[in-house]
Amino acid sequence: MSVEFTNAVVLVTGANGGLGEQFVAQALERGASKVYATARTPRDWGDARIVPLRLDVTDPESVRAAADAASDTTIVVNNAGISSRTENSLLTSPMESVRALFETNFFGAVEVVRAFAPVLAAHGGGGLIDVHSVLSWIGISGVYSATKAAFWSATNSFRLELAGQGTHVLGLHLGYTATPMTEGIDAEMGEASDVVRVAYDGLVAGEHEVLADEISAQVKAGLAAPLEALYPELAAARA
Ligand SMILES: NC(=O)c1ccc[n+]([C@@H]2O[C@H](COP(=O)([O-])OP(=O)(O)OC[C@H]3O[C@@H](n4cnc5c(N)ncnc54)[C@H](OP(=O)(O)O)[C@@H]3O)[C@@H](O)[C@H]2O)c1
Repeated sequence: MSVEFTNAVVLVTGANGGLGEQFVAQALERGASKVYATARTPRDWGDARIVPLRLDVTDPESVRAAADAASDTTIVVNNAGISSRTENSLLTSPMESVRALFETNFFGAVEVVRAFAPVLAAHGGGGLIDVHSVLSWIGISGVYSATKAAFWSATNSFRLELAGQGTHVLGLHLGYTATPMTEGIDAEMGEASDVVRVAYDGLVAGEHEVLADEISAQVKAGLAAPLEALYPELAAARA
């Protein structure tokens, strides 16, 4: 199944963020007729084709209301997400912080798919992009890695369940990308515009998964190797 952008109606969660803004802009560049730019605090985009809509993924009522309001949606970009630099240890962070990250990155994303599945079905199937991370596949980022691993697993299940209604599901994996989420981190970063371009290329081409950068490809390949290849500290500990 491939997905067309011409005359598509695209809904983006977390639209005010670094990747979100690119998902909005590039959908229009590819011929979408309308984009619902959803956010906890919607803003005016100064473009009649962009419809600001309130959607807090942790508030099921707001997700349902958005699905009602945006009932002409044909492509959903499940992009909203958070990270924490201070409370990211699964061992020592307060459990409420662990749960809060899951509320957004896992339960919130799942809520979005559940609410929009009937909307997509009503328009012939359409497309769904779930924004994971390279960290779905490597547990070096504690709570965040766990949330993205869970979301990746959910996407794999949704892909099978939604195939019956003709919805194409694409999982997106990326490493460090320059956005507000990574501001101040001293590391080599990809560009949000490049990540979104390859994600949309993949959707149009009917890909099930897009690895947006070299690090995502490397880590995924590393899953087939002995665990010490992905986690060299384990080999050092054994020596
Ligand atoms: N940047 C990276 O290096 C990187 C790497 C791998 C994966 N990712 C993933 O890529 C996605 C986009 O992140 P980004 O880098 O663009 O970060 P970002 O600039 O911080 O954008 C994230 C967006 O998610 C929104 N959001 C947070 N909680 C929400 C909620 N409860 N309901 C609705 N929206 C909510 C934020 O909205 P507010 O403006 O209201 O806070 C923000 O606009 C995330 O899922 C992230 O985990 C990013």
